[in-house]
Amino acid sequence: MANDTLTITDNRTNATYTIPIKDGAIRAMDLRQIKTDPEDFGLLSYDPAFMNTASCRSSITFIDGDRGILRYRGYPIEQLAENCRFLEVAYLILNGELPTARQLEEFEAQIKAELAVPENIKRIIEGFHHDAHPMAVLASTLAALSTFYPDAKKVRDPANRRKQIIRLIAKVPTLAAYFYRYSRGLPYVDPDPRLSYTGNFMKMLWKGLEPDYQVNPVVERALDILFILHADHEQNCSANAMRSVGSSEADPYVCAAAATAALFGPLHGGANEQVLRMLDEIGSVENIPSYIEDVKNRKRLLMGFGHRIYKNYDPRARIIKQTADKVFEVTGRNPKLDIALELERIALSDEYFISRKLYPNVDFYSGIIYQALGFQPEIFTVLFAIPRMTGWCAQWDEMMGDPEQKIARPRQVYIGYGHRDFVPMDQRG
Ligand code: ACO
Repeated sequence: MANDTLTITDNRTNATYTIPIKDGAIRAMDLRQIKTDPEDFGLLSYDPAFMNTASCRSSITFIDGDRGILRYRGYPIEQLAENCRFLEVAYLILNGELPTARQLEEFEAQIKAELAVPENIKRIIEGFHHDAHPMAVLASTLAALSTFYPDAKKVRDPANRRKQIIRLIAKVPTLAAYFYRYSRGLPYVDPDPRLSYTGNFMKMLWKGLEPDYQVNPVVERALDILFILHADHEQNCSANAMRSVGSSEADPYVCAAAATAALFGPLHGGANEQVLRMLDEIGSVENIPSYIEDVKNRKRLLMGFGHRIYKNYDPRARIIKQTADKVFEVTGRNPKLDIALELERIALSDEYFISRKLYPNVDFYSGIIYQALGFQPEIFTVLFAIPRMTGWCAQWDEMMGDPEQKIARPRQVYIGYGHRDFVPMDQRG
């Protein structure tokens, strides 16, 4: 464009400023020159919850929330979900290009060599109550990995970063599976590098007394698709936590623990667990209208609906809905699906939801599949965290290699007292 600039007139001073626009954004630091006098600090932009602030330039994931588009490195999520295995997509997200057969083989071999976790992790897990929340355990055990890999502190070394990323992606299913087994009083099942990433995870979770665990290919494929759909989602709350903590040059294990904590929240990844609890509470289709009334009267949220970015159907929810049918052929239909479908139908025809552009998000249907696969709701968010580790690591790596990034340190608009002198205790009213 010929004149990619913004002209601002400060009505306090009548001064005019011209600020460059690049890629549809102005730099907030360009506002600092706008002052009422030389002593003035300069204009700040105020943006609670980052509603309209880009914190980085990124080439990993693209979302067009109005049109319901999600792409990793330019490839539409629908095509990746249909054609790829999870580790193929992980490679793409981390490296920017789809792997050749040889590159994928090497990448898988690197991951498989790192599936095991230090033996002491088992004892850390055994320190938790059997009914501890798996997300809190995951955050704790990820942070604990930091103590076993002090070399991870060399975060300015790209080769070292890559080594830790492989470890994190490889070990996160093992951490999750070990706690799953411990919480059920079952012996641990060691990782099996002969299996796929998801097949190995299934075996670590579900192997019984049979000598040779057989991975059900339909379930394996469904989990692979779910993992692909959850692998990255640009600057969401947990990716932002990963970047923000990483910006202090903390090692990636503690950064991943922070990202896991962010994902745990019910407004973020924790919503998949809450959706199932909500469907349980609704109980049957006849109770939906009164539930919807409560939502409209702001007594509760419709969990699994709404998104900061998507103001259209979340493309991941659409793919999950299609995957559900294939899973139900193996597992039997989850009766909660009828409640979810009717809830969606009523919500999408109601003015409250239409006017606010509230559509089902990724969490609305994922829990129904997870439950059909035999998972309890407490572990749903862990099933989100495992594939999202790839996205967190890619976001962290991109940030560490970005010369423009520095320690993340927002400004504030101070609204408290001005200077006042100390009041001794006996004079306080
Ligand atoms: N149920 C009912 N009303 C809702 C919902 C919902 N799930 N979500 C948003 N609204 C309403 C808000 O009350 C608000 O109404 P108002 O303008 O009359 O005050 C309007 O829609 C806009 O909502 P905001 O809260 O401003 O939207 P925001 O972008 O801040 O929040 C969020 C997005 C957190 C996802 C929200 O939609 C929500 O809480 N949803 C339920 C939890 C959920 O499913 N989270 C998972 C998100 S996907 C993910 O993180 C993986």
